[in-house]
Amino acid sequence: MTDSADGTPRRGTCRACGGTTAQFLDLGRQPLSDRFLTEDQLADEFFFHLAVGVCAGCTMVQLMEEVPREEMFHQDYPYHSSGSSVMQKHFADTARHLLEHEATGPDPFVVEIGCNDGVMLRTVHEAGVRHLGFEPSGGVADVARGHGVRVVTEFFEESTARRVRETDGPADVIFAANTICHIPYLDSILRGVDALLAPDGVFVFEDPYLGDILDKTSFDQIYDEHFFFFSARSVQALAARFGFALVDVERLPVHGGEVRYTIARAGARQPAERVAALIGEEDARGVADRSRLDRFAADVEGIRTDLLALLNSLKAEGKRVVAYGATAKSATVTNFCGIGPDLVSWVCDTTPAKQGRLTPGTHIPVRTPDAFTPDAVDYALLFAWNHADEIMAKEQEFRRAGGQWILYVPRVHVTS
Ligand code: SAM
Ligand code: TMP
Ligand code: ZN
Repeated sequence: MTDSADGTPRRGTCRACGGTTAQFLDLGRQPLSDRFLTEDQLADEFFFHLAVGVCAGCTMVQLMEEVPREEMFHQDYPYHSSGSSVMQKHFADTARHLLEHEATGPDPFVVEIGCNDGVMLRTVHEAGVRHLGFEPSGGVADVARGHGVRVVTEFFEESTARRVRETDGPADVIFAANTICHIPYLDSILRGVDALLAPDGVFVFEDPYLGDILDKTSFDQIYDEHFFFFSARSVQALAARFGFALVDVERLPVHGGEVRYTIARAGARQPAERVAALIGEEDARGVADRSRLDRFAADVEGIRTDLLALLNSLKAEGKRVVAYGATAKSATVTNFCGIGPDLVSWVCDTTPAKQGRLTPGTHIPVRTPDAFTPDAVDYALLFAWNHADEIMAKEQEFRRAGGQWILYVPRVHVTS
């Protein structure tokens, strides 16, 4: 990244194609989004510069600065995928779909990159199908093992993929959810997929979709772990560089809007019509155009202004404001806007590893959900907005008692 003292956009090198990226959004100094702190850890908190650029060559939208992977994914990585019942169902359905349509040979082999607590591979294991999860975060990997899932506590990359090809043979399906967008070293991933995948196998991955992020101004999808913001066009270009082709795309409602990409070896499968349709739609909307991305950056500034105005006025009125869901996403919002315990007293979350700690950067205390009672709270800022239906259904009593939800996506608004 070069200096922008003369007003020209900062530039960097595209981690997907080696081309040149130009910065369009600066979210400032940010902490690790999933590092929830004890009091004695406050002094040596890790910070980095969160800024986003777009590649002029392959259109890939990506972070300008990379955080070392061991800082983020380790024994104490707190995110447990099974924390949402909606996501549990989504991944059980996904596993059944893969078993029915892709892992259909006599002795199929399913590999998952980033299997976390086994939320998807559990179903594969229960079906008696050969499988392996790569999960470098030891704590969640142990939870997966507890469910009978076969896991290596390792990063998937070219060398580890080659070793598994030697020991286990080719994979019919390599699956990843909310993981490939976390990995800056995509060349090693794609070469690893090339080494491990059977000739007619598929690499299926799903991640937050750039089109949805722009539509919803969901700038909180941008944080240390989310390095890439994929579109069908940028994934198609990526696949082609490594001898693969994008053969299917499916839009998913989960996590605020995702796309499931299916990649096969070039020439092995006829691409579904919806691939060209989605790319055509992206081109028509200009999802990677500088003017669209600049408008997004201006909308993000607008959200910051409106959210701070609302929280400050509620504070002036003496309202009790808390937050719901200590999401990784919320680190971006709280640190970009400067929201600390003076504006939001505490945040409740179901994750034991987050409870009793302080949120990254602005140090809001995390409490258990039983603190969230209608008589203790007037307004709740919904950080876990991607789980809104599930959370609002379970917290109906809060609303009935006059409590109000604050949302900031796609714009700042209050719902009673
Ligand atoms: N697949 C789960 C889901 O969708 O809920 C987990 C997603 S979680 C946000 C990302 C996971 O990817 C983490 O558990 C992390 O440890 C893992 N991860 C990060 N880099 C990886 C790599 N190179 N290989 C395998 N897993 C990786
Ligand atoms: P996510 O948006 O990355 O999936 O993270 C959701 C966070 O919100 C996670 O820390 C768990 C928490 N959560 C709750 O506290 N209550 C809930 O009902 C749900 C669905 C999530
Ligand atoms: Zn590029």
